[in-house]
This record gives sequence, C-alpha cells and structure tokens, in this order.
Amino acid sequence: MLSNEEKLNIALKARLNAYAPYSKFKVGAVVIFDDDSYVVGCNTECASFGITQCAERNAIYGSICLGKDPRKIKELVCVADTPKPTSPCGACRQVMAEFMSKDSLITLFNIKGDMVQYKLEELIPYCFVDSDMGNN
Ligand code: THU
Repeated sequence: MLSNEEKLNIALKARLNAYAPYSKFKVGAVVIFDDDSYVVGCNTECASFGITQCAERNAIYGSICLGKDPRKIKELVCVADTPKPTSPCGACRQVMAEFMSKDSLITLFNIKGDMVQYKLEELIPYCFVDSDMGNN
C-alpha cells in the first residue's frame, strides 16, 4: 500500500507536467486501484478556455485509455499550490461519482503536504447517477 508521503510525491511529480499557461495554476492527480497500481493526471489548458481539462478527470479518463477498469479505483489523490488542501471542482466530482464507489477515498493535499481526506459521498452527496434514468 502506498504511504501518504508516496501519494503526495507521485501527485507532485504529475503536477510538474501540468500545461497551465493561462491560469498558471498547476494541479496533479493520481487514481489508485484495488491492486495498488496507479495512473497519474495533470491539468491541460487550451486557448479556448472552456475545453480545459482538470487533472482529476485526466487521471480517470487516462486510466480508461490505458485499459484499466475505473470502477476499481479505490482512491483519488490531488495536489495544488493552495493555502489549504485543494478541492476538486464540481465537474470532476460528477465524473468521480460515475466510476468510483461512494465510500472510495479522496485524498487532498497542498504542496506543503497538508492533507485532508473525504469519502466521495461527502464531496458529492445526492448526485445524479445512471440509476436516476432507470438504467439501474
Ligand atoms: N483545475 C484542476 O485541474 N482541478 C480542479 O479540481 C480545479 C481546477 C485546473 C483547471 C485549470 O487548468 C486550472 O486548474 C484553473 O482552474
């Protein structure tokens, strides 16, 4: 199992790859699977700002591109240079809810190493999911 220090270091390394020339706000993320394998992500911006992609979603979608099963993600880690540990945006929370279980762990850091942890359900309670469309 990865230690919290290892999680932070992996996320910090991913953050270095962020492409954030517009906001200058770099974010690193890691999704960790049941078997302790992991996939990293960083934010990637675009001159057409609205199609910028967050680090968290890049990590989740990237893992799918690599052939991983995103439903086996047990933890998502995120780091940014914020006074308090960074917090995922609403769009990323919705994507987390698509793939991750309610009790999966969200571990949030700032670059100083301050850390908070939540269950996904705490970050996005009462969210819209596939079963709301009668798809079970
Ligand atoms: N960003 C993330 O990567 N994750 C979040 O949860 C919040 C915001 C990125 C998007 C954009 O590149 C920059 O941070 C400023 O919003």
